[in-house]
Amino acid sequence: MIAGTREINYLRISVTDRCNFRCIYCIPAAPFKRIEHDSIARYEEILRIVRLGCDMGITKVRVTGGEPFVRKGIFSFIRRLCRIPQLKDISITTNGSCLNPDKIKELMDMGIQRLNFSLDTLVPEKFIRITQRDQFQRVWDNIMAALDIGISPIKINTVALKGFNDDEIQTIAGLTREYPFHVRFIEYMPMGDTDVDADRQILTRDIKDIIINTHGPLAPVPKGINDGPAKTYRLAGAPGILGFITPISSNFCSECNRLRLTSRGTLRPCLLSNNETDILTPLRNGADDEALKQLMVTALKDKPLYHNLEKRTARDVPLNHMTSIGG
Ligand code: GTP
Ligand code: 5AD
Ligand code: SF4
Repeated sequence: MIAGTREINYLRISVTDRCNFRCIYCIPAAPFKRIEHDSIARYEEILRIVRLGCDMGITKVRVTGGEPFVRKGIFSFIRRLCRIPQLKDISITTNGSCLNPDKIKELMDMGIQRLNFSLDTLVPEKFIRITQRDQFQRVWDNIMAALDIGISPIKINTVALKGFNDDEIQTIAGLTREYPFHVRFIEYMPMGDTDVDADRQILTRDIKDIIINTHGPLAPVPKGINDGPAKTYRLAGAPGILGFITPISSNFCSECNRLRLTSRGTLRPCLLSNNETDILTPLRNGADDEALKQLMVTALKDKPLYHNLEKRTARDVPLNHMTSIGG
C-alpha cells in the first residue's frame, strides 16, 4: 500500500480500549465512555482485515490496546496471527501486568520474538501514583522473565514528564548499562483531556541532555529496516540501546509507514488526527474483499505528512484517547 512516496507495510491493531491500569497521562481525568462490546471488532473480523492488508503489502503488525492482554481469547488470536505467512514481524505493546513466565514462554513459542513494555518509573510507590495500581514488582518480574526466556529485543517505553519522572531519567537510562534492553524515552503527546499540564510538564530535548550530563556521550546506532520512529544511541560499553521518540521536538511523520486499526474497527492513518475510515460496518454489511481493500486505499489517501500537535490549544476538540488507538 502506498501513501504518497511512503510504502505502508505496518499495521497497528488495537484489540481493546480497556486497560487494567489508569496511567494519569493516558486515561482522561473525567469519566469517559467505553466502547460498547458490540462495536468492538471481533477477532475473526480483525483477522480478515489483516489478511486483506497482507495481500496489499502489510508484513509487520503490532498488537496494542488499551492493554491487549485484558481481552479474552487474546492468546488464540495471536496464535492465529502468527500463522499468517506474509507476516514477518509480529509484536505486542503491553503494560506487562497480565503476563507470567508461562504465558511469555507461550508467546515466544507461537513466534513472538519481541515485546514492548510500558514502564515510567522504577520506584514502586511512584508506580502506584502513575498507574494507580500496585503492580511494579509484577511488571518488573515479567520483564526479567522475558529476558530469561529469550525475548529480544525487549523495549521499555518511558513517557518522560516534568515533575513526574524527570528525576529518574538517569536511572532508567542506566538500565541499558546493565541489561540488553532498548529503553525509549517518549515525548508526551497532548491528546486532550488528561491531568497532564502540557504547557509545563512536557520534556523534549532536555531528556537527552539529562542523560549525557550523567552518563557521558551517546554514540548513534544505525536504524534497522523494521525500526520504528525512535532515534537510537548507545552509552559507552552498554549492552542496551537508548531511543528517543520525538513527535514534538522532531516530527517524523514523513517517514511514517503505519496504518492503525482501532478497536472500533476504524482505519486511522495518523495517530494524531481523528480522521478515520470505518471498515467494520461495511465488513459486517457483507462488503466483499475488493471493496474492503479499496477502503484501505482510500483511508491512506488522507495520511498526513505533518502533524500540528504543538499548535493545538485547549479549545480544540480532543483527539481520541490513546486507549482506543493503542499509541
Ligand atoms: P517498534 O519500533 O515496532 O518496536 O514499535 P513502536 O515504537 O512504534 O511501538 P510502541 O507501541 O512501543 O510505541 C512507542 C511510542 O511511540 C508510543 O508512545 C506511541 O504512541 C509512539 N508512536 C508509535 N507510533 C507512532 C506514530 O506513528 N506517530 C507518533 N506520533 N507516535 C507514535
Ligand atoms: N504520549 C506519548 N506516549 C503515550 N503513551 C500513552 N499515552 C501517551 C501520550 N499521550 C504510551 C504508553 C505506551 C505506548 C503505547 O504509548 O506509555 O508505552
Ligand atoms: Fe497505562 Fe498503557 Fe493502560 Fe494507558 S493503555 S493506562 S499507558 S498501561
